[in-house]
Amino acid sequence: MRSLDQFACEKLAALERRHLRRKLVTTERQGLYAERAGRRLLSFSCNDYLNLSQHPAIIAAAVAAAERYGVGAGASRLVTGNHPLHAELEQRLARLKGSEAACVFGSGYLANTGIIPALAGPDDLILIDELSHACIHAGGKLSGASMHRYRHCDVAHARALLADHRAAHPHALIVTDGVFSMDGDLAPLHDLAALAQHFDSWLLADDAHGLGVIGGGRGSSFASGNPADVPLQMGTLSKAVGSYGGYLCASQPVIDLMRTRARTFIYSTGLPPPVIAAAIAAVDLIEREPAYAAEPLRKARLFARALNLPEPQSAIVPLVLGDAEAAIAAALALEDDGFLVVAIRPPTVPQGTARLRFAFTAQHCDNDVERLAESVRRRVPDALS
Ligand SMILES: Cc1ncc(COP(=O)(O)O)c(C=O)c1O
Repeated sequence: MRSLDQFACEKLAALERRHLRRKLVTTERQGLYAERAGRRLLSFSCNDYLNLSQHPAIIAAAVAAAERYGVGAGASRLVTGNHPLHAELEQRLARLKGSEAACVFGSGYLANTGIIPALAGPDDLILIDELSHACIHAGGKLSGASMHRYRHCDVAHARALLADHRAAHPHALIVTDGVFSMDGDLAPLHDLAALAQHFDSWLLADDAHGLGVIGGGRGSSFASGNPADVPLQMGTLSKAVGSYGGYLCASQPVIDLMRTRARTFIYSTGLPPPVIAAAIAAVDLIEREPAYAAEPLRKARLFARALNLPEPQSAIVPLVLGDAEAAIAAALALEDDGFLVVAIRPPTVPQGTARLRFAFTAQHCDNDVERLAESVRRRVPDALS
C-alpha cells in the first residue's frame, strides 16, 4: 500500500475505534422528511429553521434568476463585476441588521476565515468563547494574532484576560457565537459589548443560528428590546435563510476594508445568482413575518417542557449523553421510531459531551414535537435522569 493510503487507513481505523469516524449517508430531503434507504424519517437535524429552502416563492425566485442570469457567477466579484443582485442582498441584510453596510461571502465559514484575519494580525489580541464555531477558531489561527479562549459565556474570565493582555497589543477582537450552534444558548452580548467598549476592543458575533429565529428574526443582537451594540454582525445565509452564503453587517469603512482585504472575499468566486435571489426573497419574508420567525423557538420550548429540560433560548436543544457510543445508540433508537436526530460527537463538541442535537423548525407540527418527546422519554430515559 502506498504510504499516503496507509496514512489515511490508519487514521480512519483509529477514529473508528473511538466511534469518531464520520460517514455520509445518502439522504433525500423532502420538506420536513429525510428519506434514507427507503425509510422516511421526520428530521430534527436540519438548520433550515424556517423551512425556506423549500418555500415555493423562494424556489421561484431562484429559478427566475437562473433562467435570466445563469447558474454561476464566473469569477470573483472584483473581477467579473458586481452583479446587481449582490448589491440588493447586501442592502437588505444591512437594513435587517440595522447596520450601515454589508458584505456577502461565499459561505459562513469563508466569512469568518476572511473577516478575522482582515481585522487582526500577528501583533493583535483575539479572545474567543471556547464553544464558538470551528470557523471562528480557524479565522483566529489564520490571523496569527495572540489567541485566548475564555470559558463559555464567562464575561468575568474574558475581562480578566483583557486586563492581563490588552495593553500589549494595538488592537483586540472579541469573538463569540450569538447563538451557540451545539448548545443553543445565547451569548451575553450586552455584557460583552460593555466589556469591548471598556477595553477598546471590537466585538464580532456570529449569528448563524440567530438570524431568522431570535429577536423577531433580526438575530441575537435583538434578543431583548434594547439591541446590543455589536459592530461586527456576521452570519450565514445557509440556515434560516434557506439558501447559501455568509455575510458581515458593519459600518461602511469596515465593509470597504473587507472588500479590499478579506482574502476569502477577494480570491473566491461570487455566489451564483439563483442563490442570491433566493436569499433576497427569504430576507424579504423574514422582515415581513416576525410571527413566523418566532415559531422554531416555540417548538423548541414545547419539546423542552414535555421533557422537563431547561427552557431553550433558541431553536436548538441539546441532550448530552457523554460518550460518542451512547450518542450514536440514542440516535439509532430514535431512528427506529421514525425520527432523524443525528449524534454530535467530538471534535464538534468537547470530549465527554457527545449529544443529540434537536433542531426545531417553523413547520414541525406540535403533535410531531410531542411524539418526538415521547420517543425520547421511552428510548433515551437515562439522558433525562
Ligand atoms: C456558528 C456557525 N458559524 C458559521 C457556520 C458556517 O456557516 P456555513 O455553513 O454558511 O459555512 C456555522 C455552520 O455550521 C455555524 O454553526
